[in-house]
Amino acid sequence: MVLLIDAPERRTRRERYDDHRDAEALAWAWRCACEGTGLGRTVDTPTGGTTTTPKVTAVRLGRHPELLVALLPGQLPADVRAVANRLAPHLGAVALRVEPRTPVHVRVTLLDADPLDGTVALAAGSGLHLGRDENGAELRVDPAELPHTIAQGVTRSGKSVWTYGLLAQLAHRPDAVVAGCDPTGLLWRPFTGSRHTPWQSSGLADPGAHEKVLVAVVEEMETRIDGLPLDRDTVAVGPALPLIVVVLEEYPGLLRVLDAAKTRGDDPGARLRALVSRLLAEGAKAGIRVVLLAQRAEASVVGAFERAMCSLRVSFRCDNRASVELLHPGAPAAVADAHTAALPGVALLSRPGHELSRIRAPFLGGYAEYVAAVSGRLPS
Ligand SMILES: Nc1ncnc2c1ncn2[C@@H]1O[C@H](COP(=O)(O)OP(=O)(O)O)[C@@H](O)[C@H]1O
Ligand SMILES: [Mg+2]
Repeated sequence: MVLLIDAPERRTRRERYDDHRDAEALAWAWRCACEGTGLGRTVDTPTGGTTTTPKVTAVRLGRHPELLVALLPGQLPADVRAVANRLAPHLGAVALRVEPRTPVHVRVTLLDADPLDGTVALAAGSGLHLGRDENGAELRVDPAELPHTIAQGVTRSGKSVWTYGLLAQLAHRPDAVVAGCDPTGLLWRPFTGSRHTPWQSSGLADPGAHEKVLVAVVEEMETRIDGLPLDRDTVAVGPALPLIVVVLEEYPGLLRVLDAAKTRGDDPGARLRALVSRLLAEGAKAGIRVVLLAQRAEASVVGAFERAMCSLRVSFRCDNRASVELLHPGAPAAVADAHTAALPGVALLSRPGHELSRIRAPFLGGYAEYVAAVSGRLPS
């Protein structure tokens, strides 16, 4: 018999009976769904196979029913999350939220809508607002703690909008400089004439300009490392030595153009790759972070080394499971497959010390709002 938690005071025996029947039905549906998704365990006995499944120990009914589930020995909450989208329909839910309750129990909430439906406004607050996860928690990072980052996703999946949000939050901070290469020519327009401009290159009319900007950042990096006091191994970022965030918008596109200009004696693409590799390898301690954007983080664009240096990894909608696995090795197959149909702004995110999470990126608005947010408040 399943324990009912917080059952409303029912007037009639009939209503109490109905609640218990609903709770038992949910526990049974849970058991059957676990068997079907492999969360259960089958043991052979002389009388045939017996399957045990993580046991529902209590149920709370309501608009979003909750099951308290005891995990089987050796299971983790992540094992349940990995098959949540297979379990959900059999429990009459659109999605499940799985939260640890004790070291061996999870609370499974039955949701009637994807928790990432609807837009998330870019919210002011301490740290950079990077998104909201399925539990409704805001993901915020102190700029000094922002790692090297790589974001991928097919066209119109939300990469640029996410970048707009990030840059709008950095543009006005006295302890940050927004640098980088934008072959599309749109990203830096609102920064024109500001203290950031010398660190930015735009468009493809002069492909060499991108290399110049990266050379300048690498020189700044060397100066900063040479100037490190004896008792420090990292730069203390602040207004005097601002964090330099180097954005590489449409990085594969830029490389393609540079590679096309390759001649027998000159390989601008190789030089640019080498500069980016140096920033990834040595930049973190000098207060320099790279944010690399690509439709697909494939090996010809970002080698294994570069990928390994980027510990914040964000995948907006991808074409296939293999693309997801490029940035999130070990992502559950069901999660990776489902992500091929993600809405714009919905991403998978990996970062050190945290499980893979599904997030919705903050929505600042379109390009006009981005321009207003950056240029409207920049000191001239
Ligand atoms: N976080 C978001 N929330 C809501 N809608 C979004 C979000 N991100 C993107 N979109 C929608 O998707 C469209 C394409 O996004 P964009 O960032 O330009 O894609 P990409 O740079 O990947 O090609 C946007 O114009 C917007 O309408
Ligand atoms: Mg874009």
